[in-house]
Amino acid sequence: MRTALTLLIALGAVLALSLTACKKEDNSAGTSGVTDDTVKIGLFVSTTGDYATFGGDTKNGVDLAVEEINAAGGINGKKIDLKFQDTASKPEEGGSAAVKLATQENVLVAMGAVASGISLSAAPVFQKNGIPMISPSSTNPTVTQQGDQIFRICFLDDFQGAACAVFARKDLKKEKAAILMNQDDAYSTGLGKFFKAKFEKLGGKVVAEESFKAKTSEFNTQITNIKNANPDIIFVPAYYNDVALIGKQFRSQGVDVPLLGGDGWESGKLIPNAGPGTLDGCYFGNHYSQADDREVVKNFVANYKKKYGEAPSSLAALGYDDVYVAKKAIENAGAFDRAKIREALANLKDFEGVTGKFSIDENRNARKPISMLKIEGEKFNLVRQIQPGEVE
Ligand code: PHE
Repeated sequence: MRTALTLLIALGAVLALSLTACKKEDNSAGTSGVTDDTVKIGLFVSTTGDYATFGGDTKNGVDLAVEEINAAGGINGKKIDLKFQDTASKPEEGGSAAVKLATQENVLVAMGAVASGISLSAAPVFQKNGIPMISPSSTNPTVTQQGDQIFRICFLDDFQGAACAVFARKDLKKEKAAILMNQDDAYSTGLGKFFKAKFEKLGGKVVAEESFKAKTSEFNTQITNIKNANPDIIFVPAYYNDVALIGKQFRSQGVDVPLLGGDGWESGKLIPNAGPGTLDGCYFGNHYSQADDREVVKNFVANYKKKYGEAPSSLAALGYDDVYVAKKAIENAGAFDRAKIREALANLKDFEGVTGKFSIDENRNARKPISMLKIEGEKFNLVRQIQPGEVE
C-alpha cells in the first residue's frame, strides 16, 4: 500500500513536472510574441463609443508608423504584427482588452490607452503578466504608479492642471474660477484638483466647484450654481463630448465667460458638436504643435495628410511616437525580451519625437511642455507653450 502510494505520488510529480516543462516551452516560444519574421505589438484604444475620436486618431497615427517601419524592413528584421482591441470608451473594457492582448495574443509590448480610466483598468493586467505597457496619452499621475511595467510618453495632469492655472492667472489675468468636473472620471477629478491648488496658490479664488455624473446630458443645476458665483473663468476638465454639451448649455443660460480645459477637449468633433461660435474665445491645452519646424514633425504632418487627407491631431502624433518609442526600446534592448525591453524603456533618453524631444524619468513618465490653444471659429490657434519649469 505504502509503495503504491509513493509510486502514485512520484508519478504525479513526474506528470506535474512534465506538464510545467511543456507549459514552459510553450511560453518561451511565445513569451516574446515573435515568429521568425513578425513581432506582435498590442494596441488598445477606443474607436467606438462616447469619445471615439481619441482612439480613431491614435490608431491612424499608429497605423502610419507601423506602415513606415514595415516598409523599411521592420524592427531588427521582424515586421510589426499589430493586434488591436477597441475599448469602446468604457473603463472596464481596458481590463478585458488587456487580458486578450496578454493571454490570447501574447503581445511583446502593449500600447494604450488614451483615457486614463481605461489605462488604469488595463495596467494591472500587463503588470501581472510582465508585459511593458506604453500609454501614448493617459495623463493621470496614478497610471504609471500601477507598477514598473507601466510607462507613458506624455505630460502628467499635475503639470497640466498647474499650467492651465498659470495660464488663467498670468496670461488671462483671471481672478475667480469655477470648476465643473466629471465625478466618475479619474482624469477629470484629478485635473480639477491640480488646477484648483495652483490657481489658489497664485492668489486666485475658486468661487464654485461643481460635479456631474458620467453620461449626464443636462447641467442646469451646476450651471445655475456657477452662474450665481459669478466667475471670470470656468475650468472644465472633461472630454470633448461633455464639453460640447456644457458649452452649449452655459451659452444658452447667458453665461459667456471663457471656458478653459485640458487635452481632453481635443477632437475634430468638438466644434461640430458644440455648434458654430459656442466655444469661440475658449482655451485648452494640448500635446504638440503642427507649426513645430523640426524635420520629424514636417515629415509626419506631410505623410499623415497624404494618407488621411486631414491634419494630424495631437492624439495621432502621440500614437505615432508611441510606436517609434516601442521600436527604439526593442532595438536598444538588443533582444525580443520583455525584461530587457522594460529596462530599455526605463533608460530611454533624448528621444526625438513628433511631440517633442523627451526622456523617460525614474517614475516612467515623460516631461514635456504643454501648448495652450485658443478656439477661433473652426481653428485651434497656438497662444503659447508652457514649459514644466514655469509651473514648479
Ligand atoms: N489625457 C487624457 C486622459 O488621460 C486623454 C487624452 C489625451 C485626451 C490626449 C485627448 C488628447 O484621460
